[in-house]
Amino acid sequence: MVPVMSTGDMLDESNSAILDPISSVTEGCRLPVLMMSSQEWPLAEVISIAEKDHQKMFYIHYIDYNKRLDEWVDESRLDLRKIQYPRRDLGAPSNTGGFNTPKKLQVSSGGTVSRPASPGIPAPHDPITGPSVLAALQLKQQKYKKRKIESLETPVTVQEEAPTRRSSLSDLEVSISGIDAPPLPSTASSGTPAVGNHCTGATNHAPRQTGSLAAHTEDHAITRIKNIRMIELGQYRIKPWYFSPYPEEITELDCVYLCEYCLKFRKSFKCLQRHLQKCPYRHPPGNEIYRKGTISFFELDGRKNKLYSQNLCLLAKLFLDHKTLYYDTDPFLFYVMTECDNRGYHIVGYFSKEKESSEDYNVACILTLPPYQRKGYGKLLIEFSYVLSKHEGKTGSPEKPLSDLGLLSYRSYWKHTILDILINAKTLDGQEKPLITINEICDQTKIKKEDVISTLTTMELMNYYRGQYILTLPRDLVDAHNKAVAERKVPKIDDTCLHWKAKDWAKRGKW
Ligand code: ACO
Ligand code: ZN
Repeated sequence: MVPVMSTGDMLDESNSAILDPISSVTEGCRLPVLMMSSQEWPLAEVISIAEKDHQKMFYIHYIDYNKRLDEWVDESRLDLRKIQYPRRDLGAPSNTGGFNTPKKLQVSSGGTVSRPASPGIPAPHDPITGPSVLAALQLKQQKYKKRKIESLETPVTVQEEAPTRRSSLSDLEVSISGIDAPPLPSTASSGTPAVGNHCTGATNHAPRQTGSLAAHTEDHAITRIKNIRMIELGQYRIKPWYFSPYPEEITELDCVYLCEYCLKFRKSFKCLQRHLQKCPYRHPPGNEIYRKGTISFFELDGRKNKLYSQNLCLLAKLFLDHKTLYYDTDPFLFYVMTECDNRGYHIVGYFSKEKESSEDYNVACILTLPPYQRKGYGKLLIEFSYVLSKHEGKTGSPEKPLSDLGLLSYRSYWKHTILDILINAKTLDGQEKPLITINEICDQTKIKKEDVISTLTTMELMNYYRGQYILTLPRDLVDAHNKAVAERKVPKIDDTCLHWKAKDWAKRGKW
């Protein structure tokens, strides 16, 4: 028998929705949410709603912030007075939320169906890396602007004599050729950063079909929610930033325990200890191709070391948002950087690289694990990738899109590497000032031409004067560069410590 609802019942229902505004919050709604770290109320979107211990919890994304700050919050942190409901007139799904929230779908992963895990509700926590790095990017941009003004105030004709590194009393000028006449290219391969909601760089190439981690085209609700609460890796407990398709039963745990040497995951500390007694590794499998001091690099073939490579991709995905995970690791090489002590070789970070790249990419994905970040290891990984390119005899570039942090790190690496060349450019006999071509910069650094041009453009150092570009290096910029070099904590890559020969994978027939 179908229960008959009286008019009174219906009124009660609608009244209770008015009296209890929290029940009107649906997926896709936008409203101000209290951000604990800043005590501010930025606009956020409700991605998912779930119940835990009889309490409604809301998984929210702060609109102008990176997704790594997404979190579960309770109703006390929602400002319901300023709620915006999703518009439903744009063909949006009706039951899973509005147009803001994509429909929940299975994630296809290069022929293999990944295992979308139930999101679960991790304990509320503070943002991992503080407010968005948007601020950092903007600050850097402002610095360039300020410098540009200062440099214009300085007479442009001033010329340094000694071409060697110096803390000059005046600005340094270098003539540069190899760029077509103005206007300068406004965008290069690295392009303009897009931070916040969409953590992608500039150019969105079509996703590769075989990659281990490839740029994703669709943003499914399930993959927008962090599914692992905590990992333990060696001596560190690390809070993941993003979704990674670990098996569903793993996502239920308070903490996932990883073997720091082979990267296998276990459900408990006890299981991990049992594993460690049997695990034959005290370093990543593969060849140690570089060692200087405590830093080593291991090269792994994604086909020969499949399990390790897949586990590495699963781990990396926890901190990489703009890539979708694929299971075919065969076309990739993995370069794992470790720091060694008397217990073993501890993973610090890695980058992957296609065995054959039609677009001259020398890095597919790059990661420094959070406990090691902001110490210079990221730039060391980047430097290593260009050293490999040097041995291959070609220029290279990172795969696009870059993340916000990826863009910051590459820009910093490119800037310092190019400045080093410019500051040390020699003035030849009969020349008024040092003369260098873009191709010479590419040749010496192995940085791809577009990236050299985009770096010089972003730094706003180039002036077009009487048919050629003159680079004016403001004194403060040269001083800041020299200071950064002097204060560098992580030593540079020493080419003499590399034991590696480039392979021509195209000739090998099979990877
Ligand atoms: N906020 C502001 N600036 C930052 C931050 C941050 N959170 N993190 C790094 N930087 C800046 C540093 O200050 C430094 O700039 P400076 O030399 O001008 O001072 C620069 O970025 C590089 O710093 P490192 O210490 O060398 O880099 P780190 O070891 O932190 O690694 C990396 C950088 C690899 C991007 C790291 O942040 C990471 O793994 N992030 C998550 C994964 C990711 O986004 N990878 C890049 C994806 S793009 C791709 O894969 C091709
Ligand atoms: Zn192990």
